Parts: sequence; C-alpha cells; structure tokens
Amino acid sequence: MPSSAPDWEAILHLAIALAHEAGAELRRRFGRQVTVTLKSELDPVTDADQAAETLIRQGIQAAFPTHAIQGEEQGKTATGGPLRWVVDPLDGTVNYAHGFPHFAVSIAVVDAQGVQVGVVYDPLRDELFTAQRGQPARLNGVRLVVSSTTELQRALLATGFPYDRRRNDDNNHREFVALNLASQGVRRAGSAALDLAYVASGRLDGYWEQRLSPWDVAAGALLVECASGTLSTYDGTPFDGLGHQIVASNGHLHAAILTQLASARRSVD
Ligand code: IPD
Ligand code: CA
Ligand code: CA
Repeated sequence: MPSSAPDWEAILHLAIALAHEAGAELRRRFGRQVTVTLKSELDPVTDADQAAETLIRQGIQAAFPTHAIQGEEQGKTATGGPLRWVVDPLDGTVNYAHGFPHFAVSIAVVDAQGVQVGVVYDPLRDELFTAQRGQPARLNGVRLVVSSTTELQRALLATGFPYDRRRNDDNNHREFVALNLASQGVRRAGSAALDLAYVASGRLDGYWEQRLSPWDVAAGALLVECASGTLSTYDGTPFDGLGHQIVASNGHLHAAILTQLASARRSVD
C-alpha cells in the first residue's frame, strides 16, 4: 500500500506545541537548584535537559508512533519510518546551569530530502521561531528576513567554542581573533540554535561554528534558509542541513566571512 505524504502542517503544529511545553518546563525550573552531570570535561547535562527531552519524546510517540527520534540526551530510537525528529531539549545548558538567561528548545523534522520543519523556542522571551521548507521563516507569526548589512566592519557576528577546546588546538580561537578584528563585534552567547535564529531575524549578520551536532543546527539552519540567508561549510561547500561545521550569514557578507576563516585557519591546518 503506498504511503501517503506527511502532513507537514500537523507536524509543525506538534513541534510548536512540544517546544512550548518543554520551554515551560525549563522556565519553571530555571534559577532553581539543578543537578549538573558532566558528559565530558566541559559538556554538562542537567535534570532539566532530561525532563524536557522526556516530554518531547512522549509527545512525538503519542502523536506519531512510527516516527524516529534523535534526541541529544536520550539517543536515537532503534527503529523508525522515513521521518526523524531531531531534538535539542535545552540548547545553552552551560547558560542554564549558571542562571544566565539565554537558552532554547530546538526541534527539527527531517525526511530523505533534508530538514522540512524547524522550531526554536526561547521560553524566557516567549519568542517562537518557526520554519517550514518553502515558506517564510517566522518569529511569533511575523515573517523574518535576514539583515541588509554589506560591510564586514559594520557586522555583528556570533560564534561558539567546542567543548573539547582544551585538548584540541583547532578550537576557534584564531578564527575568533580574526573576525573580532574585522567586524563590529562577535558575540558568544552560548546557544547555537538562537545564534542561527538571530541570523534569520537580522539581529546578527553572521555566525560560524564547528564540531556541532545535528540537534544544535537542524532547526536553526532551516530558519536561516527560509529567511533568505546563506549557509555553507567553512570552505563554501553547501551546508547539508545537519553537518558539524556551519557558516550562516545574510548572504552579502558570506564571502568576506569565509575569507577571514580561511586565512585564520591557515595557521591551524
Ligand atoms: C551547545 C551550545 C553552544 C555551542 C556548543 C553546543 P548545548 O549546546 O549550542 O552555543 O557553542 O557547541 O554544544 O550543549 O548547550 O546543548
Ligand atoms: Ca546544543
Ligand atoms: Ca542540549
């Protein structure tokens, strides 16, 4: 029997509902004592990450029991159909554990063609960023478009540093220095999903980072794409939607950012 096309509207609707539900749980626990466990030297997980992921997984399984799930904290479901939910229940865990008010829930849904739906929700600001492939990205329902900044020296950028930065010299320090000198400023706010959502909404002109995971970037990259932004890896190869290395920009600045990254990395490689 031929399988019917996915109901993307219903899937987006559920992603939004679950982002709101998980976000409310994060907001409720925020600022209270959280139990922090280290997954590696610098990579933390809290009981709030786990509680939010459990809520999201239960919601997906109740509505779409055949869909696969890949969550940062609880792993991949053993089986699943062609649709996969890629979930970061709490992006910005270091911020969260310190009471620094900048974090988000990130939920994407992927099929064989790539990421089709992306939702990033900032529960403290009640900002919901949504995207469905082929349609405009939105913030609380209002259409988003990337910034129009054309000069790198006038640009506000963002980046992040990998958790293994003490052990791996390819740790973004050289790239940070180069782009901090070339731009108006570089922010390291601690949530890749919000960095991408902010490029989509024109609050940032560009963002770069590497050694990311699919759940960090899947939803945010679709937001940038649906807000007419540009995405690639550091060498300009098209970004595949889930990859570990990303440059996101308003398009005007893309080549200039890649040039700065390449010259900074000549001394890394
Ligand atoms: C991290 C954040 C951070 C980025 C790290 C990510 P987490 O995700 O997005 O901004 O620099 O690479 O791992 O651990 O808070 O979910
Ligand atoms: Ca993350
Ligand atoms: Ca996380």
